[in-house]
Amino acid sequence: MSREPIGVFDSGLGGLTAVRELLNALPHENIVYFGDTGRVPYGNRSKSTIIKYAQQDAKFLLSKNVKFIIAACGTVSSVASDLGGRIPVPFTGVVKPTARAAVKATKNGKIGVIGTSATIGSNSYKKEIEAIAPDMLVYQQDCPLFVPLVENGFISEDDPIVVMVVERYLQKFKDIGVDTIILGCTHYPILRGVISKVMGSGVSLIDSGRETALYTAKLLEEKGLLNDGGECGETSFYVSDTPDGFSHLAGMFLDRNMDDEVTQIDIEQY
Ligand code: DGL
Repeated sequence: MSREPIGVFDSGLGGLTAVRELLNALPHENIVYFGDTGRVPYGNRSKSTIIKYAQQDAKFLLSKNVKFIIAACGTVSSVASDLGGRIPVPFTGVVKPTARAAVKATKNGKIGVIGTSATIGSNSYKKEIEAIAPDMLVYQQDCPLFVPLVENGFISEDDPIVVMVVERYLQKFKDIGVDTIILGCTHYPILRGVISKVMGSGVSLIDSGRETALYTAKLLEEKGLLNDGGECGETSFYVSDTPDGFSHLAGMFLDRNMDDEVTQIDIEQY
């Protein structure tokens, strides 16, 4: 039994999609979440900057004595995929578990991948899918307006602006007839309702936060690192900018009052 927390980081709010699933799958685990809200977005930055930020984020989590680190960020997982080799605890990004789930889900072998410009430019999901199942047809689209929509709370499926943006990016997948879409950025499951409305219920949406949480549960069990003690785990939240906006949106997303729960840190110290 291992009581140390699981460390989860993202450039902002998106990694909460993994936290929400971890809370469901592993209710006894302690979790430390870091959202780099002072430097979001990562998705349009250079490789060297993304690697530097990811290393600092991991270093902060290690200072909290975590037993496992999840890069709950499609961009970091795609661009800094070797981060796991540089840290002293087990690690996962989101690409591998999500690509596997998509291959399992598709029936017609046509998979769409959406993500930030850095993620799509890296071809990370496409390469992972082709390594597992070379006969799949993979189509990619970057959606740079999705993250600012989410970070600013524009997430309603009834909001015509949100619907219009989603339609603009996903029309090509409708024309091609993909039956499965990888939500390859952890912010995107927050737009799941509107993406589903635009694509129709016949298209499977693969949530990178969810798949990664399930994969983490499996890895922790295999490594004997689960905390299966009696009481419920605690989750602590840290950000690199003022907590106000984050607390509000995170509270809505996780359905809890987070007003005094979020601590600001100086990530440049790590
Ligand atoms: N959370 C990031 C990702 O999953 C998107 C936000 C950003 O660009 O930093 O790729």
